[in-house]
Amino acid sequence: MRRRWLPIAVLLACSVFTLMVARSSFSDAPAQRVGSEACKECHDKQYQQFGASAHGRAEKDAGRIAGDAGCESCHGPGSLHVQADGDENSPGFKTIKRYSKLSAEEANATCVGCHKGGDQFYWQHSAHARKNVSCVSCHNIHNSQDAGHTKLLSKPTTTAVCITCHKANHFALGKSAHMPVTEGDMTCSDCHSPHGSAGPKQIRALTTNELCLSCHADKRGPFLWEHSPVRENCLNCHEAHGSNNDKVLAAKRPYLCQRCHIATRHPATMYDLPDLTNSSGNRSLNRSCTNCHPQLHGSNHPSGKYFTR
Ligand code: HEC
Ligand code: HEC
Ligand code: HEC
Ligand code: HEC
Ligand code: HEC
Ligand code: HEC
Ligand code: HEC
Ligand code: HEC
Ligand code: HEC
Ligand code: HEC
Repeated sequence: MRRRWLPIAVLLACSVFTLMVARSSFSDAPAQRVGSEACKECHDKQYQQFGASAHGRAEKDAGRIAGDAGCESCHGPGSLHVQADGDENSPGFKTIKRYSKLSAEEANATCVGCHKGGDQFYWQHSAHARKNVSCVSCHNIHNSQDAGHTKLLSKPTTTAVCITCHKANHFALGKSAHMPVTEGDMTCSDCHSPHGSAGPKQIRALTTNELCLSCHADKRGPFLWEHSPVRENCLNCHEAHGSNNDKVLAAKRPYLCQRCHIATRHPATMYDLPDLTNSSGNRSLNRSCTNCHPQLHGSNHPSGKYFTR
């Protein structure tokens, strides 16, 4: 009769033994902070890079980051990883935060913990955050490529970072008329915040017109005679990135104007073209409608009602 208890007793003894072994080799106490010095011995490369980076400098210079933030501010407490002594199979080894193993959301949470002001204030609601783009898709903490490592970018320039993913916009900027981005006079981030903004499409203004007018102030007005599509949206006639029509126009003249003005008293159509003595033919030549309506962005001339002066 007694033998019926034997298997259970053996099982019990085994599990107690396993538990004891587990406790001795892998303490269930959480990892503790050990300070960056403890990482130096094995990760000297990252240690040196860190010291020279914006993060290392912020820590050293007058304590911009309180206490010893160091490596563990991003990689989490390191005591168990250090105790593992380089043995990748030891369970403590993997307690260090490895960015290659984190979801975008987890990785971003670490960065946003400190970077919640400035542009990053808008991060949570940006298209980038919603589509699982992560801070480290564009920033490279240890081996950044930008001059001076000031912005910790993964590519030498801002525009180069953007066009790794946004091929269509890169293509548009290659068209014959375009914003001077490819020339390097301006970058994607002059118009967009990579981190999100209060405006649409992550632009650095509340509306498209406010954005354009921040540089093209002569088009701001108010004018005595306003052209309503200009007030409404510059993109009624222009492309934001580039087009094969001059002045980055969305369509060729006269078609550009005729998308709206189909019933003027002087329509110009392709059919007028061969007969240049016909007074309406001149409307499709050269700058077409703007030959006679040059002030189409708005006029301050008392008789500028038709934007002719
Ligand atoms: C006794 C040596 C040793 C110490 C001390 C040590 N590490 Fe490691 N660590 C390693 C080894 C070995 C690897 C695996 C090989 C590699 O990636 O360099 C590793 C890997 C890592 C990785 C993961 C790399 C990846 O993505 O796979 C991170 C992050 C890391 N260590 C951070 C730290 C930090 C932070 C500290 C200080 C708190 C630290 N290590 C201290 C030996 C050490
Ligand atoms: C500001 C956050 C941050 C700090 C601080 C930081 N790291 Fe990292 N570390 C990362 C990220 C993110 C990665 C993933 C690769 C990348 O983006 O550069 C990484 C990758 C690593 C790796 C894997 C190998 C590699 O280069 O990809 C090691 C090892 C490492 N870090 C060690 C350290 C050590 C040691 C320190 C302190 C001297 C430190 N890290 C400080 C964010 C940080
Ligand atoms: C412990 C707080 C802390 C954490 C965590 C942190 N940062 Fe920082 N970061 C700072 C401070 C402080 C600076 C220095 C700001 C300055 O010089 O104006 C800085 C600088 C930077 C800069 C350069 C800014 C500049 O103006 O030159 C970038 C880019 C950056 N961090 C990205 C990241 C990313 C990406 C992560 C996550 C992987 C991260 N940071 C995690 C505190 C932190
Ligand atoms: C889509 C790419 C991209 C993503 C994603 C991104 N950044 Fe940036 N970040 C940039 C670029 C590009 C700059 C430099 C802007 C410029 O040209 O002035 C920058 C600049 C910064 C700066 C310097 C100060 C500033 O605001 O200009 C900090 C700090 C920073 N980023 C932190 C972060 C953090 C934290 C995250 C994640 C929440 C993040 N970034 C996500 C591309 C990105
Ligand atoms: C890692 C890939 C990646 C990089 C690098 C990247 N983006 Fe994006 N971006 C995305 C994705 C994904 C979306 C979401 C697209 C969608 O919703 O169809 C997006 C959306 C956008 C949008 C549209 C926002 C909206 O509200 O619809 C803008 C503007 C933008 N990115 C600008 C930038 C700029 C500027 C840079 C460079 C600083 C950049 N991106 C770098 C992946 C990237
Ligand atoms: C002169 C300002 C300006 C510059 C420079 C600029 N953009 Fe834009 N971008 C805009 C405006 C304005 C919109 C909004 C268009 C709309 O409302 O439909 C936009 C829209 C976008 C969108 C959203 C959907 C689309 O493709 O139309 C993406 C993505 C984008 N831009 C990426 C970029 C990238 C990447 C760069 C740099 C290579 C860049 N932009 C340079 C002004 C600019
Ligand atoms: C950050 C400043 C800046 C912003 C914002 C900006 N532009 Fe420009 N724009 C420029 C510069 C610089 C040029 C080149 C001027 C030159 O070559 O004389 C230019 C050129 C142009 C041209 C003339 C191109 C040509 O071939 O002559 C048009 C049209 C234009 N921008 C429209 C816009 C529109 C529409 C917006 C808003 C979506 C806008 N810009 C936003 C700086 C800006
Ligand atoms: C109704 C169509 C239309 C709208 C809307 C419009 N534009 Fe234009 N824009 C044109 C045309 C057509 C030209 C070419 C004029 C020429 O050849 O004289 C032009 C030329 C320009 C130029 C280059 C030449 C110059 O006059 O400096 C700039 C810059 C410009 N527009 C900016 C803007 C801005 C900023 C807005 C929004 C506030 C805007 N445009 C709205 C039609 C428009
Ligand atoms: C997106 C539509 C749209 C486009 C494109 C457009 N316009 Fe207009 N335009 C209007 C509207 C709306 C009015 C105001 C009509 C009114 O007050 O009766 C107007 C008014 C005018 C007037 C003054 C007419 C009046 O009776 O006061 C002239 C002249 C004019 N536009 C010329 C042009 C020229 C030239 C172009 C091409 C460069 C152009 N428009 C492109 C919508 C447009
Ligand atoms: C040869 C010069 C000239 C050309 C070219 C020209 N216009 Fe005009 N347009 C005028 C003059 C002058 C007026 C004012 C008429 C008046 O005072 O009654 C006018 C008036 C207008 C008006 C307001 C009156 C109306 O008929 O509704 C619109 C809209 C207009 N033009 C659009 C256009 C468009 C669109 C084009 C190109 C297809 C164009 N114009 C080409 C000279 C021209």
